[in-house]
This record gives sequence, C-alpha cells and structure tokens, in this order.
Amino acid sequence: MTDTASGRRASVIAGLGAWLPPQQVTNDDLAAYLDTSDEWIRSRTGISTRYRVDPGTSTGDLAVAAGELALKAAGGIGVDAVVLGTTTPDRLCPATAPEVASRLGLVDVPAFDISAVCTSFLYGLGASVGLIAAGMAERVLLIGAETFTSILDPRDRTTAAIFGDGAAAVVLRAGDPQEPGAIGPLLLGSDGTQSDLIQIPAGGARTRNSTVPPPPEDHFFRMNGSDTYRHAVERTTAVARTALERAGWLPEQVDRFAAHQANARIVNAVADRLGIPAGERRLANIDRVGNTAAASVPLLLAESVASGRLRPGDRTLIAAFGGGVTWGATTVVWPDVPALLG
Ligand code: UT7
Repeated sequence: MTDTASGRRASVIAGLGAWLPPQQVTNDDLAAYLDTSDEWIRSRTGISTRYRVDPGTSTGDLAVAAGELALKAAGGIGVDAVVLGTTTPDRLCPATAPEVASRLGLVDVPAFDISAVCTSFLYGLGASVGLIAAGMAERVLLIGAETFTSILDPRDRTTAAIFGDGAAAVVLRAGDPQEPGAIGPLLLGSDGTQSDLIQIPAGGARTRNSTVPPPPEDHFFRMNGSDTYRHAVERTTAVARTALERAGWLPEQVDRFAAHQANARIVNAVADRLGIPAGERRLANIDRVGNTAAASVPLLLAESVASGRLRPGDRTLIAAFGGGVTWGATTVVWPDVPALLG
C-alpha cells in the first residue's frame, strides 16, 4: 500500500464536468432479451436505469465531452497533463489520452491512460497528485470515461444488469494542503492473486501468444460476482478506515461518503461497517446511472455538487474497489467549485 499524504504541495480540486450519453436503458429493456426482471435487478443492485452510447461513439468521445466541461468549470484554465482512467480504451494501443488531449486543444502535454477498472479514478488521482507534488505539473485534467457496454457479453444477464456508459472529469491545481479541496491522504492497494475475478480473458499478450485460440466469448468482460462482492466489501471498508485514520477524522465526522457505485448493497454494507448512517451522508446515483467503472466516482461527485447534495465544507470520504483487484480511498474537505453536467 502506498501513502501519498501531502507533505509537499497539495492537489486541489478546481472544477468538475460530467457527460452521459442520451440513451437510457431501463431494466425492462434488458428483460426484453435477457432472463432477468426489474424486480431482481433493483433488489440485488439498486439499479433502475443505466446509459448506453450510440453506435460509433467511443470512450475518447465521452472523455473529450467531460473534459471540456471540467476545464470550463475550472474557469477555462490550461492544464499541463491529462490522465485518463478507463477499462475501455479506444484501442489496445496506443493509449486514448493523447488523442483526447489533442482534441481538447492541449498541445505537447503528457497524456496517459490508467487501467485499474473501477479504481482507475483513484489510481489516476494518485498519478495526478504525484505529478503536481513533484512539480511536473501545475494543473492536471483527470478523466474517468467508459463505454463499458462495448465489452459486455449480450448474453450475460449479470454484467448487463450492472454496467453502463459515462464520463466525468476533475481539474486539479497545485495548492495548499490546508485549503478546501486539497486531496488528503491517498491510499492505494492491489492483490493480483485475485486477478481472475474481473477480466476480459482474451485480446492481450497471454492469449495472442497462446497456441490455442480463445473462444470468441473470451473477448467479453467476465466477473465472478459473488466473490467480487465479498472482496469489495472487505477491501473498501479497510482502505476507507485507514484513509479516515490518516486524515484524523472519526466516522461520525464524515459528512458525505462518495463510494464507487458498484452495487447499492456493497455501498451500504461498507457504510454500515464504517458507521456512516443511511440517508444524505451516503451519496448515491447508482439507481439512475448504474456502475460506470472508472467514471463512477467523479460522476457521483459532479452530480452531487450540481444537485446540491455535496456542499462546500463537507468532509468527504471517497473509496473504490475494482478489478486487479485494486482498491483506494482518500478524503477531501469539499471546496466551493462548480460542476457542469452535459
Ligand atoms: O465495480 C467493481 C466490481 N464489481 C462489483 O463490485 C460487483 C460485485 N458483485 C455484485 O454486485 C453481485 O454479486 C451481483 C449483482 C453481480 C450478483 O448479485 P448476487 O446477489 O451476488 O447474486 P449471485 O451472483 O449470487 O447469483 C444469484 C442468482 C444466480 O442464479 P442461481 O445460480 O442461484 O440459479 C444467478 O444466475 O441470481 C442469478 N442472476 C440473475 N437473475 C436474474 C444473476 N444475475 C441475474 C439477473 N437477473 N440479472
């Protein structure tokens, strides 16, 4: 586990943007072609709808849309680096971030992808905080974007019920560790012994170099739901607790808990264990957007700011768990910054 607690200059949130595709998919839409039901999906996941891109729309397109809004929200300031968290890059090679940066008019800046599935935003935050702390950047555009529906197996009712598309972005600037919006102690971890829990088996070097060609369905996303559920609850609770300890906050001092929207039951189980009461302290948008993986945390933050559920001064705990398996958490006293939704 690494701890990037700010002993050096801090990274401060300067603005947020989020973009969702226009097409909303209901549980009944899924039940029209899969053996599932609105009742099952809502009671097991808390999800009623999710969004899906139109054919031809890529992760890069979503990232540009969200990035533009975040840059505008931050007052149109330029950035020195672009970090893109995604599970669904436009191509296996090269990274999607350089093209996104160019489309945003950002010339000659470092731009790279981060791949930690649903923890990608927090891993990207680690990279961004590091760039700023090292003096390599004054401002960073950090984006989480997914066209997750592009990797779903149309016959897999479990994953189709959960995942959706979307993008959101945050502009970070160099600042003082004591000012509102400064990213607090950031904890990241991984356990590769559980890498099979969440995977796309084919397409990478392991299968390309194999003498046995993989079956076509191995190109789709696969998740061992119940084991992932168990690891997600344990790891997210543990890392969130450590982030609170490092920040010197007690659970009852947390005004808002912004957890990766994996499954409403997971978020509630973690919040129960942490002692964060049900209600407005648990930020949630999974009912409408589903699990948007790398986009989930910034999308939740942006929508919560825009709706007034996350307010300046709120002590906010952020935590996520994802494939790898990976996890992370941090704290921030929420700043007075805009969030623009598209
Ligand atoms: O984003 C970070 C990583 N992802 C997660 O954290 C997600 C973690 N896992 C989960 O959210 C849950 O495990 C799921 C929502 C995926 C599944 O819920 P569950 O309560 O753990 O169900 P289960 O996997 O134990 O399956 C129970 C039954 C199975 O049927 P059988 O074997 O008992 O006959 C499944 O086939 O529910 C069945 N099932 C469904 N039934 C109707 C699975 N998906 C569906 C569905 N509709 N969509």
